[in-house]
Amino acid sequence: MSDVSRRGFLQSAAVVAASGGVVPAIAKATSGTNKRGPLVISSANGLRATEKAASMIRGGADTLDAVIAGVNIVEEDPDDMSVGYGGLPNEDGVVELDSCCMHGPTADAGAVASLRNIKTPSKVARLVMRRTDHVLIVGEGALRFARAHGFEETNLLTDKARRVWLKWKERHSDRDDWIAPANEVDPKKQADSLAGHPQTYGTITCCALNEKSEISGVTTTSGLSYKIPGRVGDSPIIGAGLFVDNEVGACGSTGRGEAVIKICGSHTVVEAMRHGMDPEAACLHALKRMANHTKLPRLLKKNGKPAFDVKFYAISKDGKFGGAAIWSGAKFSVYSDGENRLEDAAFLYERGA
Ligand code: GLY
Repeated sequence: MSDVSRRGFLQSAAVVAASGGVVPAIAKATSGTNKRGPLVISSANGLRATEKAASMIRGGADTLDAVIAGVNIVEEDPDDMSVGYGGLPNEDGVVELDSCCMHGPTADAGAVASLRNIKTPSKVARLVMRRTDHVLIVGEGALRFARAHGFEETNLLTDKARRVWLKWKERHSDRDDWIAPANEVDPKKQADSLAGHPQTYGTITCCALNEKSEISGVTTTSGLSYKIPGRVGDSPIIGAGLFVDNEVGACGSTGRGEAVIKICGSHTVVEAMRHGMDPEAACLHALKRMANHTKLPRLLKKNGKPAFDVKFYAISKDGKFGGAAIWSGAKFSVYSDGENRLEDAAFLYERGA
């Protein structure tokens, strides 16, 4: 892109932001520039992942192996109900996992979707990348591929996740044959018993940059809770839930996958960085496009704003980082300049607006 057209792109992005109610670089949000050592960014549930990945990169590990080892901690954690083992199941009570990864130095990618019985879909995604000529393998084929590589099969539905799913199953309709316990038929008690268990899109994404300017990323999830079996979100879709370009930077997403897929979210963020935006501005730019592309009344609040949330987390090749969400209050994990911490994400709209 010439300097003139690049300037035009940046100006038009600024105009979009100013005219559409975007509040870039919100006072409390934190973006920054890493000056030394590894830079690793992740979703708020990824503080252990950023720490692990940074320590492996400091020890000389490849950036992709480092971020995958980082998210493996969360995939194997039964207490995180949005990822891997212990994730919330589909509407039939079966856990189905999605993941993809990208390795910047080789510009290669791998992914699996609707994978059952394997705790660490990110490792299977890496094997699709390294040991096949394909990018994405789904369902039964993905499980057979994992089996062929010796992965151990496990029932991924923990008792805790099963009980939450059963609660959802017994209460989501009064027009089927599933009945909640008698002491909860009072609508008020029923509402209370469901509080804290809404449908969720939780996910972990993690991207890293080393001192050789190599970049990799991974995204992994159990996807939308209580989904229709076989539903695939953004997390295993290259360009949606993750995109890495070793010449530019990387971005991953969490939140409503359907909205991310429809705007090729992570690719949109990386392309905005390619054209000169810093990571936080690029994340806000993609979120604004998403808000503008949300037209269906069932996805909008009364005031016309999206009735869901999405978050992007981005790093650039020159060591900048930033995260942004549609709604205020989000955080992200970052390891930069030797410090591992949670930071406030920028946002389009103040929660409650
Ligand atoms: N972002 C995760 C999903 O929608 O499945």
